[in-house]
Amino acid sequence: MDGASTLEKPAAGRVLMEVFGCQMNIVDSELVLGRFKGLRYAETDRYEDADVVVFNTCSVRGHAEDKVFSRLGALRPWKRERKDRVLAVMGCMAQREARDIRRRMPHVDVVAGTRDFPQLPQLVDRVRQGEGPFVVIDGEARPDIERSPTSRPRPYQAFVTIMRGCNRPCTYCIVPTVRGREISRPVDEVVDEVRELVDEGVVEVCLLGQTVNAYDGQDRGNVTLGTLVRALDEIEGLRRLRFITSHPSDFNDETFAAMAESRSLDRFLHMPIQSGSDRMLKLMRRGYTVDKFRRIVERVRAEIPDMGIGCDWIVGYPGETEEDHQASLRVCEEIGFAQSFVFKYSPRPGTKAAEEFEDDVPLDVKKRRNSELLEVQRRISLASNEARVGESVEVLIETPSRLDESKWSGRNPQHQIVVVEDDRVGPGSIARVQITSVSALTLFGEVVSVS
Ligand code: SAH
Ligand code: SF4
Ligand code: F3S
Repeated sequence: MDGASTLEKPAAGRVLMEVFGCQMNIVDSELVLGRFKGLRYAETDRYEDADVVVFNTCSVRGHAEDKVFSRLGALRPWKRERKDRVLAVMGCMAQREARDIRRRMPHVDVVAGTRDFPQLPQLVDRVRQGEGPFVVIDGEARPDIERSPTSRPRPYQAFVTIMRGCNRPCTYCIVPTVRGREISRPVDEVVDEVRELVDEGVVEVCLLGQTVNAYDGQDRGNVTLGTLVRALDEIEGLRRLRFITSHPSDFNDETFAAMAESRSLDRFLHMPIQSGSDRMLKLMRRGYTVDKFRRIVERVRAEIPDMGIGCDWIVGYPGETEEDHQASLRVCEEIGFAQSFVFKYSPRPGTKAAEEFEDDVPLDVKKRRNSELLEVQRRISLASNEARVGESVEVLIETPSRLDESKWSGRNPQHQIVVVEDDRVGPGSIARVQITSVSALTLFGEVVSVS
């Protein structure tokens, strides 16, 4: 009865969420949408239907911020069209530039920082009742915010934030400033959340943290990421477990042991090196040398065969010479990463690098270095994919293929894209697939069986 009467009530409004930045923002957007739904808002992806638009923003590179400012500007006519429409901004840029956002974009009604966003739906509601505007960026650090399973984009997959913030001193990075000090969620709480998700049909979980392998469960004693991996491994029905992003200096024996013994752990580890030059790594204050990184990779591969390692690189950090860049190309080739994301250095006001060093590598040089690294990665990926032809792999099917809607796209345990054509599979199914052909980014195969 209750359920039926709730359905009949008209929605309080329609909300559109636009997400920029990393997976953390995707999860926070889910949390906020869940709260909006609790206030009887419905979700929409059409601006013309939306009463509320929320931007969840990113500050990691200048480009990410420029994009948000230009999108906010483009929404002026949308705002003008109807007086009761509300525009809200959350995320890392809201935290860093609340004042600037309101000054440059006075049509923004709510700005909520990285610790304040749980209140955003209520603030929006108050604006709709004639209050505001509101700027809140001073909340207390809270590691957990209750999630609403109703707003997960894919029923069989979920991201779970296990820690917030970052304590590392990387000179170029704005994340510690906008996200604050590290704080982990207790093991039990994460396990309960994952158990609930699995009960609802989730088969793949990805744990999130900026330095996820520094997880301590808020217990300054023996708890490590390994403790959590072991506990989650016992949840029947959880088929695939991943975690991002690992910092090379934060592994410990227990985490390695738990990874090696895990039943559910995927064969993919995202562990950025940033540069292949010790000189650059030192200037970036990354806390390891290339040789130390190499040894960690060797250990990972010795303990967990066939582990694909994903990497991030920054090209054009202040003072990066051609020699430093050549070192990155060599290291990329030598380590044989499964995947590389390459970023052109972008000075972030307030960071040590931006304050102390000139952004002295010209843009065209950054662009060339960027494409040279990507080209090395493409060659490695193609060669390693070619070696997979004939292999039989387990694939979690996700969505129709972007290349061809009549086919399905999924992921193998190395988190590579696998495309198949078969009527027996659909989103969330797990299939055994024989690889028949490859490109640098994609494997193609035939379904052998579906479990
Ligand atoms: N916590 C993760 C990454 C967070 S940001 C880690 O430490 O690995 C994601 C990536 O953005 C980084 O790995 C880095 O390669 C890139 N990045 C961060 N700040 C940047 C900046 N100022 N300019 C260019 N790239 C940057
Ligand atoms: Fe930024 Fe470094 Fe922290 Fe990663 S580890 S979020 S790059 S400061
Ligand atoms: Fe961007 Fe903030 Fe994530 S700066 S990368 S959205 S933590």
